[in-house]
Formats: sequence, structure tokens, C-alpha cells
Amino acid sequence: MKFFIDTANLDEIREAYDLGVLDGVTTNPSLMAKEGITGQENIIEHYKAICDIVDDKVSAEVIATDYDGIIKEGLSLAKLDDKIVVKVPMIRDGVKAIKYFSNEGIRTNCTLVFSAGQAILAAKAGATYLSPFLGRLDDISYDGLDLIEQIVHIYQTYGFATEVLAASIRHTMHLIKCAELGADVVTCPLKVITGLLKHPLTDSGLATFLADHAKAAGK
Ligand code: G3P
Repeated sequence: MKFFIDTANLDEIREAYDLGVLDGVTTNPSLMAKEGITGQENIIEHYKAICDIVDDKVSAEVIATDYDGIIKEGLSLAKLDDKIVVKVPMIRDGVKAIKYFSNEGIRTNCTLVFSAGQAILAAKAGATYLSPFLGRLDDISYDGLDLIEQIVHIYQTYGFATEVLAASIRHTMHLIKCAELGADVVTCPLKVITGLLKHPLTDSGLATFLADHAKAAGK
């Protein structure tokens, strides 16, 4: 199972990378805006800065929504660095563009996925990664984890090569359930990754070990 961090914040990306468990980064236009990154040149420089931190798999999202625009933007993003994965929305022209990029050997991440039907289309088009947004389904009273389970089952049944990249993960239980369900990748905020560290019995057990050690050493 791969861990991606879902942020455009360079400090958070560095922190997750330093922990030694990071396999990639996902961004989106909202996350870039949150960091105050605006204007095409700044956005490009920011993608380069992210690529300088991590080893591989940096999702960079296209803004265009028409086929020619997505292809032009995707090709220029892919040229920035071998680590770039072109992130394309689940729309008609997006599916066509994913097929084009797949034929060209350019990795893609199909984003804004909310149904099994969309997942099948993306896999047929040859998407490298598929991003179902489970938190946003939970937000409207659908069970996002049900969708992850359904897509994993379909992909396994047919041997689709597309990897299920569970996105819009809001808390550690989302991540753990995705692991149980066989999601290939999770992308989540730093606090979800570091949240996995926490257990009160670890803290109290360590305190006891250190106190016993100090007592035995006569301190
Ligand atoms: O990767 C998709 C993610 O950024 C969306 O998360 O929390 O805005 O639904 P959220």
C-alpha cells in the first residue's frame, strides 16, 4: 500500500518524506490556492519544488476542460519532471485525454471520481491511478468506503491495471479501512499519516520502561 500526501505545502511534504513513509504527492487547484500559489509560472515552479523533495509520483492537475487544452497542458506538465503524474478530471474530454496519455506512456491520475461506472471508464481508458473522493461522499450521506470496496472488487475481477488511489481521506479510520479493503494507494493530509502513530498505551508503556530503566540504574 502506497502513502501519498494530499497537500501543496512544502513543509508538510518534507515532514512526511523525512518520516520515510512517503510514496508520492497529490495536489489540486484548491490546495495550490490554499498555499497562495497563483499564476501559471508560480504554479510550475511550485511543482518543480515538490518534485525536488520526493522520489516520484507528483500529481499535477490540469485546469483545461476541453480535449485539446487538456492534452496541451498535460504534455507540458509531464515535461517538467519524470516524477509528474498528470491529473485529469472525470469528464468526457478527460477520459479521451487519459486514453491519449496512456498511449503516449504518460502516467495519469483520474480525479473527481464518485461512482463505479466512472471507475470502469477510467480503467478502460488506461488511467494509472483512479481517485475516488470518499470523504465528499460521506459528506452527502453516501458511504465512501462502499465505493472503494466496489471499485477494488471490479478492478480485481477484471485485472485492470489502474490503481485505486483513495482520496478525500479525512481521518485515520478512513485510511485503515481503505487498507482493509485493498486500496492500492491512500492520499491524505499529514495529520492523518502522523495520526497513525498515536496510541495511549504506547505513551504510557514507554514512560514505564524509561522509569524502570532509570530506577534500576539508580537514578
Ligand atoms: O485528493 C482529493 C482531496 O484533495 C479532496 O479532499 O477533503 O477536499 O474532500 P477534500
